[in-house]
Amino acid sequence: MEVQDVRDDLEEILYTREQIQQKIAELAAEIDRDYADKDVLIVGVLKGAVMVMADLARALKSHVTMDWMAVSSYGSGTKSSGVVRILKDLDADLMNRHVLIVEDIIDSGLTLSWLKANLESRGPASLEICTLLRKPEAAKVDIDVKYVGMDIPNKFVVGYGLDFSEKYRNLDCIGILAPHVYS
Ligand code: IMP
Ligand code: MG
Repeated sequence: MEVQDVRDDLEEILYTREQIQQKIAELAAEIDRDYADKDVLIVGVLKGAVMVMADLARALKSHVTMDWMAVSSYGSGTKSSGVVRILKDLDADLMNRHVLIVEDIIDSGLTLSWLKANLESRGPASLEICTLLRKPEAAKVDIDVKYVGMDIPNKFVVGYGLDFSEKYRNLDCIGILAPHVYS
């Protein structure tokens, strides 16, 4: 789905598909360099990170293992609840593995800080985070994020995996959702 397919629903386009691919290529180059002599397990957080995982994994030049986890921190609205539940756990054992969590967006940071502590307790050799987007003004907890694609304003965004009520995930760009859609 492209921007003209949802025209009135977006207040502004933040990143086009080309700009997203450029950012992903930059992140992949950094990750390739940092993990040059290590086997990395990339963990995608469902469902939002599906597009980032798919494109990031293909942009990497080294072998990676991919695993998935589903957690829930949101209802169908636009505010983080801070309540995290595991809906689907990892298949992989993290003991002594180099683990890289791949996220679509860090908003309050509540989901990731919980996830990071949870995965840390499983004994990985290292644990880092890569997120395509981050909203610095929305941060409620401080988390150390090694790879950040772009910092964005504190607005509700959709597209490229990010949804509002399960819609817009298949939009090829990232845009700010117009308030009339959710109010
Ligand atoms: P946090 O716990 O507030 O950091 O929220 C994390 C999760 O909320 C993300 O992984 C997204 O799934 C969702 N989320 C946060 N902000 C947005 C947004 O602007 N658009 C769509 N989903 C969002
Ligand atoms: Mg998410």
